[in-house]
Amino acid sequence: MDLDKLMNKHLTRYFDASKSIPEETLQQLLRFLRLTPSSTNVQANHFYVLATPEGKERLAANLGERFQDNSEKILNASHTIILTTRADLPDSHLDAVFTKERADGRFPDPAKHELWEFMTRDFLNLRNYGYKDMNHWMEKQTYMALGMTMMAAAELGVEAMPLEGFDPTSVDKAFKIRETGHTTTVLLALGYPDPAKVYTTPISRFEADQLFTFV
Ligand SMILES: Cc1cc2nc3c(=O)[nH]c(=O)nc-3n(C[C@H](O)[C@H](O)[C@H](O)COP(=O)(O)O)c2cc1C
Repeated sequence: MDLDKLMNKHLTRYFDASKSIPEETLQQLLRFLRLTPSSTNVQANHFYVLATPEGKERLAANLGERFQDNSEKILNASHTIILTTRADLPDSHLDAVFTKERADGRFPDPAKHELWEFMTRDFLNLRNYGYKDMNHWMEKQTYMALGMTMMAAAELGVEAMPLEGFDPTSVDKAFKIRETGHTTTVLLALGYPDPAKVYTTPISRFEADQLFTFV
């Protein structure tokens, strides 16, 4: 990965609609996304991969009135992923996580698994009843998956554009997402840049001395 190139470029806004991500590259990226970590291994996500013109059109048409300028980005992208997060965390989800961890042999020692499950429940109770930020906390995990997937895309030579410009209620409705217990957190458009619309102005960020404190 060319980090110098990555840190000196604008995010791609405009994609070349004639270019598609090869299937093998897409599958590698999705394997990476599947394996991104989350706190307590909560795995509170479901991902909708829009690979067809119909899928992308449905999303582009349901971004909400004020976000129409993002439609073109989605329509011209090769693929767009809707990253959704559980709206709450029912026991059935936690049971499914623990069952899978046992099946995968995450902790060969059963006593360690018991302890892990106890500690996880304790931590999640704190989020639910202490900090009262369960959905917000789960969405933070989603953003970490987003960031890691953007880096993985760069490694694979694919441009990745995160999009917060959409109305979650509208997107949830269009894809019947709330019915599954999830809600839309963020979008990720993927593809190859339209060379005619690449920004060439300088990148604008605060200077390092405003950002870093060395102690
Ligand atoms: C999480 C996230 C969401 C974003 N959502 C949008 C969006 O919906 N529409 C858009 O045009 N740009 C979006 N952007 C692009 C940012 O506005 C852009 O990265 C920022 O202004 C810095 O510009 P640069 O990447 O060209 O340096 C988003 C960026 C991030 C990191």
